Amino acid sequence: MAKDITDHASGPNHVAIIMDGNGRWAQQRGRPRLFGHHAGARRVREIVEACPDLGVKYLTIFAFSTENWKRTQSEVAGLMKLFRRYIEKEAKALFENGVRVRFIGDRMKLDDKLVSLMDELEIFTADNTEVHLTIALNYGGRDEVTRAAQRLALEIEQGRLSHKDVDAECLSKFLDTRFLPDPDLVIRTSGEARISNFLLWQSAYAEYEFIDTLWPDFTSAELGTLIGNYGGRDRRFGAVTA
Ligand code: IPE
Ligand code: IPE
Ligand code: MG
Repeated sequence: MAKDITDHASGPNHVAIIMDGNGRWAQQRGRPRLFGHHAGARRVREIVEACPDLGVKYLTIFAFSTENWKRTQSEVAGLMKLFRRYIEKEAKALFENGVRVRFIGDRMKLDDKLVSLMDELEIFTADNTEVHLTIALNYGGRDEVTRAAQRLALEIEQGRLSHKDVDAECLSKFLDTRFLPDPDLVIRTSGEARISNFLLWQSAYAEYEFIDTLWPDFTSAELGTLIGNYGGRDRRFGAVTA
């Protein structure tokens, strides 16, 4: 039986979500894919605002992957514009809700205007502690580990680090997520049961939920149900529990 979701001690501290299904949601309505992305962006506020009551301290959302550049130029451009608008529109509400926002992913390929809005939002919300929202934008797990390995190699090459110091904890400090605990629960909407390059290293022992709901239909009530299910799981981390 699912445990009481108000029992936060057994709930996930860090929930990560692969927000998938915007395109299909729009297609079902005979509308262009970007219509689905706009509907998807509007869903984010309710989910973020639900976190404190659900005992979720860290929420990480996958907004754009390193592979999503393969989409049409008009979809990519529309998404980039949507990200800029999202930051401009939501900054005030995020701040007032005590949300600290940070971004993970490679910023080098993003346009300057978007990157400066991302930087400003991080600074603007830097003292907030109610919820830690991390937005993965131009993020890929392999790309992140590759960039970390490059920086690590440079440290060694320049004599600041010895190869003998490289262990899992050391490598974690070179990842984009260095400020984050590992996710406890990873949710993917839209019925696909794959992780599509999301938090590969960090999710080693995460619990997964693959649900059929398309992202623009996902609600805080459904998040609450998934968190309730999580409370009933036995996380063993490789050990044996009684
Ligand atoms: C997720 O929705 C949003 C992004 C990847 C940017 P999709 O756009 O992947 O929606 P589907 O999977 O085509 O339905
Ligand atoms: C994963 O969804 C990326 C995001 C949700 C941002 P995709 O729709 O890009 O993943 P695939 O292509 O179905 O694996
Ligand atoms: Mg998709």
